[in-house]
Amino acid sequence: MFPGSSAQNRHIAIVGVGQVGGAIAYGLILQSLASELLLVDEDIERRDGQVRDLSDVSYGHGSQTRVRPATHREAGQCDIVIITAGSKYTLGQTRVEQIHRNVSIIRSVIDAIVPFKADSILVVVSNPVDLLTSLAQKLSGLPVSQVLGSGTFLDSVRLRGMVANRLEVAANSIGMYVLGVEGDAQVVTWSAATIGSMPFRDFNPSEESLDRSELEHACRNRSKEIIRAKGSCPFGLGSVVCSICSSILLDKRNVRPISHFQPEFGCCFSMPAVLGRTGITRTIKPPMSSEEEAGITESAKALRHTIDRLQEN
Ligand SMILES: NC(=O)c1ccc[n+]([C@@H]2O[C@H](COP(=O)([O-])OP(=O)(O)OC[C@H]3O[C@@H](n4cnc5c(N)ncnc54)[C@H](O)[C@@H]3O)[C@@H](O)[C@H]2O)c1
Ligand SMILES: *[C@@H]1O[C@H](CO)[C@@H](O)[C@H](O)[C@H]1NC(C)=O
Ligand SMILES: *[C@@H]1O[C@H](CO)[C@@H](O)[C@H](O)[C@H]1NC(C)=O
Repeated sequence: MFPGSSAQNRHIAIVGVGQVGGAIAYGLILQSLASELLLVDEDIERRDGQVRDLSDVSYGHGSQTRVRPATHREAGQCDIVIITAGSKYTLGQTRVEQIHRNVSIIRSVIDAIVPFKADSILVVVSNPVDLLTSLAQKLSGLPVSQVLGSGTFLDSVRLRGMVANRLEVAANSIGMYVLGVEGDAQVVTWSAATIGSMPFRDFNPSEESLDRSELEHACRNRSKEIIRAKGSCPFGLGSVVCSICSSILLDKRNVRPISHFQPEFGCCFSMPAVLGRTGITRTIKPPMSSEEEAGITESAKALRHTIDRLQEN
């Protein structure tokens, strides 16, 4: 895709190469985005198996990306470090137990990586994504502009896809975001939505084919449905994380709904952000209805409260 030496000296590390990490790697190799892709996992056998399988993709496509196994410490020297580590053995655990477990995984991952290269961009994908991005931001020692999470990017892509199908308009002509804390509390900012550059409500005044709350629900439930059916949703997530990497390495300045530090609340959650080689170059706060704003504020305060309690322990 990028001829000549354009991928030269671009290094990406993926920490935790299970289903999701593997799908991200696959997408990155097909795009030849990096010269080197470093795979890190505490399960050495799985890591090396992924390196071999994904090297075959690289050979088969004449990709410029060389795939190799690496340590956590080496990962910290890459231009982008993606964290997809996790532990699926959460059966029978309560949500609180799961959160503690996932928090301890991100802590041990960051501990093993630091120090980061001064201009590294850290991309957190592991769940609960906004909580873990907030903790990673503190533990990594990196500036807030260099730490982000996949947040509601996939949810936004899904929502736009569903609206596109119903209105028969291309998804990339629809400006519509899911924002806030990813999960049950996420908020669709309908009041700022556009089709072309026209306000959404003017384009679709009757709202016949479009039940907003039904769409919001379908969007929130989609991960659960996919996970129930096949255990994980690696491809959807993989494609949005590849898009994040491409915006960063090629300094594209795309506006994306991604989790990043919100000074007003002292934690990370999704707001539209301009994304380039130095990370988040600015946040764009869209106009919101008072109801939308309240939804985001409430979930942000709850997230902040969880972080404070974790830090007391
Ligand atoms: N943000 C989203 O929208 C979204 C969607 C789906 C999944 N996810 C998250 O992505 C993460 C990965 O999911 P998956 O399906 O690929 O899981 P998986 O179990 O297939 O892979 C996780 C990998 O992490 C590795 N790992 C665990 N601890 C590690 C450590 N300390 N260092 C290095 N590697 C370590 C495991 O060995 C395993 O290979 C989960 O947290 C999941 O919840 C996020
Ligand atoms: C914790 O991580 C596992 C996988 O690593 C994931 O399945 C689970 O949903 C996460 N728990 C929470 C509360 O996000
Ligand atoms: C949500 O997903 C669950 C799990 O697959 C499914 O049982 C349920 O029917 C879905 N609900 C709706 C309203 O789509």
